[in-house]
Order: sequence, then C-alpha cells, then structure tokens
Amino acid sequence: MPPAPLPVILDVDTGVDDACALLLAARHPALDLRAVTCVAGNAPLDLVVANTLTVLDVAGRHEVPVAAGAGRPLLEDPADARHVHGRDGMGDLGRPRSARVPQPVHAVELLRSQLMAAARTGEPITLIPLAPLTNIALLLRTYPAVAQGISRVLFMGGSASTGNATASAEFNVFHDPEAAAIVLDACAALGVPVTMYGLDVFYEPQVTAAQAGELIAADPAGPAGLAGELIAYQCARFESQSATIGDAGAVCAAIAPGGIVTRTLPVRVELSGRHTRGRTVVDQRDPLTHDPHGRPDAVVDVAVDVDGAAFSRLWLDTVGFHTVGGGC
Ligand code: BDR
Ligand code: CA
Repeated sequence: MPPAPLPVILDVDTGVDDACALLLAARHPALDLRAVTCVAGNAPLDLVVANTLTVLDVAGRHEVPVAAGAGRPLLEDPADARHVHGRDGMGDLGRPRSARVPQPVHAVELLRSQLMAAARTGEPITLIPLAPLTNIALLLRTYPAVAQGISRVLFMGGSASTGNATASAEFNVFHDPEAAAIVLDACAALGVPVTMYGLDVFYEPQVTAAQAGELIAADPAGPAGLAGELIAYQCARFESQSATIGDAGAVCAAIAPGGIVTRTLPVRVELSGRHTRGRTVVDQRDPLTHDPHGRPDAVVDVAVDVDGAAFSRLWLDTVGFHTVGGGC
C-alpha cells in the first residue's frame, strides 16, 4: 500500500513561480494540500489572492481553502516584484478570474485552525512558505501552540551565497527581514525543524521553452497549458531558452527529499546593514569553535545541492500528465 499523502499547506505570493508550485502541490498524489494562505510579495495582496484562486480552479481544486493574510511587511514598506511577474503578478496570461472568494478569515486564523486540528489528530503538517514570511511570523508569535501541528517548515528563501533582490539578499527575506528573523527564532524556540530551499538551488530545475510548448499543446485550457504558459512567460521575460520552476522546487523537495543535499548550519538574518539587510548569514565555518556574537539559536537544514533534472522531470510529469518528453 502506498504511504498516506503528506499533509501540506502552502503560503504564497502568487507570483509566476508560486503558480508553478501550486499546480504541483494541487496535482501530486503524494501530497494532501490542506490549505493555501496568501501574503503580499510578488504582487499586492488582492492580486495574489486572485491569482491563487485562478490556479486552483485550473487545477480542479476548488475545495482547497484559501485565505488572505498580511497586506504588507512588518516594518518595511511594501515593494512588489511586478517588473518580473507582470502587471497582474502572474504573467498577464489573461486567464479568467475565479468566481470563488477566499475564506472570511485572516490567513493566520486559517493556519491556526488547520495546524491545531493536525496536532489533535497526530498528523502534523509540512508548512511550505514560498513568499515573504510575514504570515508565518505573525502565526508563530500569536499562536505558538501551533508548533505541535507542524512537522517541518520548508521555506523558499534566503541564500548561502549571492542574493537576487540585492547583491546580498534574496527577495522573500529582503521583503520582510524581521519576519524571517522571527520565524527562525520561533522555530528554534519551539523545536520546529526548518529546511531552507534558497537561491543556492532555486535556479537549477529548468524547463525549456520547447517543453513549455508541448505542455500548452497537450492541454491548452487546463493545468498543463497554464504550466506551459508560466514557463513560456519567464523564457520571454528573460530572453532565455529555459526557465526555472522556482518555488515549485521547494514542493519537489517535500515530495522527494532525496533530491536535495542539505547541510545543517547556523543561520542568522541580517537586519541592519545598509547593503546587507535581509541577507541570510549561513555560518559554514568548520569547525565552528567561537563566535563573538555567541552561537545563533537557529540551526537550519540548508539545501546546498539539488538534482535539478529530477525535479524538472517530477514537475513536468505531474503538471503535464506525462505528455512531455526531452531533457534540459
Ligand atoms: C522568490 O521571490 C519571488 O520572486 C519568487 O516567487 C520566489 O519565491 C525568489 O527570490
Ligand atoms: Ca514566491
């Protein structure tokens, strides 16, 4: 008998690559997608919610509860990334808007009810934030008891090397550094394991423009077609023959943890440097014998390598119903 599907919740700022992640989580039989929560990031919150509902509609997952959360970072001014993700935040693909509305509760309340229910049934949930960590910081500080219902936080964000929003900082952490620092601190205090799927691996799983074309041809109006359009948008935007599946790689890591190599390392979030604010300072000293700042509380499983080809194939097979050939 196959193992029971892994219960997961995604926290998203949909977002072209969040949409790739949602399609995978919505359609892969090894995952039980319990809820999706939304936060401002790649686009303003209203667009993030609309895009998320559209993707779930296309994926045929109308029953998955969706809630809107924080409309801005804790301290930073909001600054979206529509210069990358399009005016509507999801590639301006012109897909029909969902008729569905989000749950009449804040994302933090939806997370709380789902996680406490999971704690009661003894079936903790893998929480997969793919966006600025504002909702998750508010959740863990407001309702720390939800930790009993979380098996792991597997987040897309940060970097042990270079940034993308700035030379130092990755977008999700840069957008709300205080939230990221709070989440790492709270997880350490509450004993919640954390995996960081950061920029060190983010760009590795690639899908070609030709494969995107095959997806679109296979099922233009359905999930494969949307998946192909999302990749095609990125290829055109970056004038490239392939594009990353981005946030979807973190979902792949939940489905196939053997596809990433992790190192368990101390991580701090830089909150003050003018040019380094939002950097995840990953301490790779070996041996680490002394630090004048003291040892960081947060020790994180940092993804340092990924089987990009395997993750691309996993994504293509799931969203494309095994219709797409070729390698990358
Ligand atoms: C992250 O920022 C966003 O643009 C993507 O959706 C991803 O979550 C990468 O830095
Ligand atoms: Ca994202």
